[in-house]
Amino acid sequence: MAMTKRNGKLVYLCSTFVAGAALASACAGSQSPPSESAEDVVIATGDPEPQRAEAVPAMPVTPATGEAAPAKNPFEGAEFYRDPEYAKKVDSTQTDDPAVKAMLAKLKQNPTGLWLDRIAAIEQLPKWLDDAAAQAKKKKKPVVPVVVVYDLPNRDCSAKASAGELRVEDGGEERYRKEFIDPIAAEFAKRPDQRIVVVLEPDSLPNMVSNLEVEMCGKSELVYKHSIAYAIAKLSLPNVYIYVDAAHAGWLGWIHNRRGFAKIMKEVLDMAGGTNRIRGFATNTSNYNALEGEWGKKLEPSTPTPNEYAYVQGLSETLAEEGVKGVSFIIDTSRNGVQESRTVWGNWCNIAKAGIGERPKVAPRPLLDAYFWIKPPGDSDGISDPSAARFDENCKSADARADAPEAGQWFPAHLIEMMKAANPPL
Ligand code: BGC
Repeated sequence: MAMTKRNGKLVYLCSTFVAGAALASACAGSQSPPSESAEDVVIATGDPEPQRAEAVPAMPVTPATGEAAPAKNPFEGAEFYRDPEYAKKVDSTQTDDPAVKAMLAKLKQNPTGLWLDRIAAIEQLPKWLDDAAAQAKKKKKPVVPVVVVYDLPNRDCSAKASAGELRVEDGGEERYRKEFIDPIAAEFAKRPDQRIVVVLEPDSLPNMVSNLEVEMCGKSELVYKHSIAYAIAKLSLPNVYIYVDAAHAGWLGWIHNRRGFAKIMKEVLDMAGGTNRIRGFATNTSNYNALEGEWGKKLEPSTPTPNEYAYVQGLSETLAEEGVKGVSFIIDTSRNGVQESRTVWGNWCNIAKAGIGERPKVAPRPLLDAYFWIKPPGDSDGISDPSAARFDENCKSADARADAPEAGQWFPAHLIEMMKAANPPL
C-alpha cells in the first residue's frame, strides 16, 4: 500500500509537484492546461513527454443486473464489527509503562479494516462474518464488518512496499476473478441478511490517473479498470455496500487529477452496471491527512484542498460533474491526528510523527457515512531495510521510521508513538 512515488525525471513542471510524480505526471499527460484554475498551469521544460508502456488487453466484464444494496448509510442503526485478531495483536505489545498499557486497552476497543490482501487470507472471512452475525443476533442490531479487498493483479504498481502475489503475465487477471473475487462474493451471498461493507483496492484507480508513465502501471491500465469493474459487478449484492478507494487530498486534490479520477470512475461504473452498484468512496486509506486546517497549503501552496474534508467536498462535486452522483464517503482516520506530521506531502511510509486520529464514528459530517480505521494502527506500511525485496525508498524518507518491518506486519514501537500523539487523546 503506497500513495505514489517519485518516478524518474519530471518532464513538465506543474505549478506544483507535491505527492511525488502524482501531479507532475498528470500534468505531463495533458496536451494543454486542462482548466483555467491556477493549480493546473503546465509549464513545458522542453523535454519530451514520458513514454508509456502499452496496456495489455483485459478480459471483458458482464455488468451486474441483480438487485443492488439500498441507497443508505450501512453504518446507520448498526455497530462496527471489532476484529478479535486485532485485539490480540494489540495485546501482544510489550510495555512496562502503565500509561501505555492504558492506551492500548482503549485502542483495542476500536474497529479496524479486515484486510483480504492475498488469496490465502480469504480463509479468515467466514470466521469474521460468522462472528459478526453472532454478535448481531445477541445485540439485536447489525454489526457491520469492513472488509478491505486488496489483491489486484500487478498491485501497488507505482511503489514496491505492497507488491502483491498476482502478476498479469502469470495469469493473475483470471486468478483474481476466480480465486479471489468469486469466493469472496460467494461468502457474502451466503449471508443475505448480514450487512457488509467493502473498501475496494486502495491506490489502484488513483494510479491510473497519475502514474501511467510507470511501466507497470501503464501496462496494467486495462487490467486494473476491468478487474475493478468485475469486482464491483460481482460484489454488488443487496447486503454489500462498496466504497472504491479514491486516494486523498495530497494525491488527487487538484482539479485536473480529480477530473481524471471521476472520468475513470464513470467508465468503470458503466462497465460494472451503474453508479448504484457502489455506495461511494473511501479516502485517506493508510494515509495521514488531517481532517481540518490549512496545513496542506504549507506543504504545497497551490493545493485547492488543504485538508481531507475539503478533498471529499471537492471530489464529490467533480464526480457529480462527470455523472457519478449521490455518492457518500468514508475517511480513514486511523493515523491522521497530527496536522503537521510530514515535511513532504508525498511521504506515505510509517510517518514517525503521526498520531491516531478520530475514533470511528457514524455520519460525523455531511457527505460522510463514517470515520473509520481502515488501516489498523500498528500495522507497518513497508519495510525500511534497503536489502529487502519489497523495500521502497519512501520507507527511508526523512519522515519515516527507520526500524520498520514488512507492510502489514505488527510495528509496536511506531504504534506506541502514534498513541502518545493521538488527537483526540486516547
Ligand atoms: C499491506 C497489507 C496489509 C495492510 C493492512 C498494506 O500496506 O500491504 O499486507 O494487510 O497494509 O495493514
